[in-house]
Amino acid sequence: MPDSARLGHATPRPAGCPAIVAVMTTYLVTGATGNVGRNVVRQLLNIPGAQVRAVSRDPGRADLPGAQVVRADITDKADLEPVVDGIDAAFLIWPLHTGAALPGVLATLARHTRRVVLLGSGAVAELPMEQQRDLLAATIPEWTFIRPSTFAANALWWARQIRAGDTVGGAHGELAMAMLHEADIAAVAVRALTSGRHVGELALTGPAVLSQSEQVHVIGEALGRPLRWVELPRPAARRRLVADGVPESFADTLLDAYAAMAKQPRPPVTSTVEEVTGRPARTFAQWATDHAAAFAQAAPTSAATS
Ligand SMILES: NC(=O)c1ccc[n+]([C@@H]2O[C@H](COP(=O)([O-])OP(=O)(O)OC[C@H]3O[C@@H](n4cnc5c(N)ncnc54)[C@H](OP(=O)(O)O)[C@@H]3O)[C@@H](O)[C@H]2O)c1
Repeated sequence: MPDSARLGHATPRPAGCPAIVAVMTTYLVTGATGNVGRNVVRQLLNIPGAQVRAVSRDPGRADLPGAQVVRADITDKADLEPVVDGIDAAFLIWPLHTGAALPGVLATLARHTRRVVLLGSGAVAELPMEQQRDLLAATIPEWTFIRPSTFAANALWWARQIRAGDTVGGAHGELAMAMLHEADIAAVAVRALTSGRHVGELALTGPAVLSQSEQVHVIGEALGRPLRWVELPRPAARRRLVADGVPESFADTLLDAYAAMAKQPRPPVTSTVEEVTGRPARTFAQWATDHAAAFAQAAPTSAATS
């Protein structure tokens, strides 16, 4: 088949007209079914010539139209080797609470690509972000380490409480965070993956600092009904987190982190999202509007008529 036909140009190219060369770039996206990864996949698929290989442990449930969904547990070398073959760049998240397998995963990626964007995790007790970044820098030539502030998506843990009533119970209601929209994290990751211009660490935050009780109020404004924070002692807050979907294995780590953060000064706000993407970071109010459906109470079913 002539190149012109393969590229969809059925008519012959006029003399003197340069050939169109279809340059396809293959991106591996881990965590592709998660809050950030799903946005990375969507944004990459908008780029001409981008092919996306999306990793999930359960491709049948991934629901990622346009992407090539591949099955892999990233900690399993036998799973990972075939899915990294032929990639040009990789977006890596670290969803585990131990870092033991991270050096091996980075080494596998390094055999196939020069460029990796790693989304740092604060949930790996024995491997703090600085060590994650240093491992990445020591293994990958074109590395970007994204150091994110708290995800706005953590507020989805409150969805069950908000659907059921007008209060959110938890610990450290006055704890302030610079909540970060997952679409902004993805936008920065996509710039780094596609341009290669962002070697180094990028510290991302949302545009403003809000306490947890203020976040609950903002969600209420997006829903059009008042919501309020209820402070719980730690044991009750722990039970509440687990009931709301936080893994048992992570609940204490999270509450310890909140207790430590509560003793720190208010977190800083960076302008990195805007510097990298050219757009200001999305506000928490925007995030709450984007996710209002997750918090909305089911419409009452109509009463049976006699
Ligand atoms: N929440 C925060 O405030 C915060 C702050 C800083 C950093 N982070 C980091 O950001 C990461 C991404 O967060 P997110 O909210 O986008 O994730 P998420 O919505 O919680 O989704 C987790 C993703 O990890 C994948 N996954 C889990 N274990 C896996 C394994 N063994 N092998 C392959 N895939 C696996 C899941 O894919 P399948 O289930 O389809 O396999 C899913 O796509 C987190 O893991 C954390 O490290 C979070």
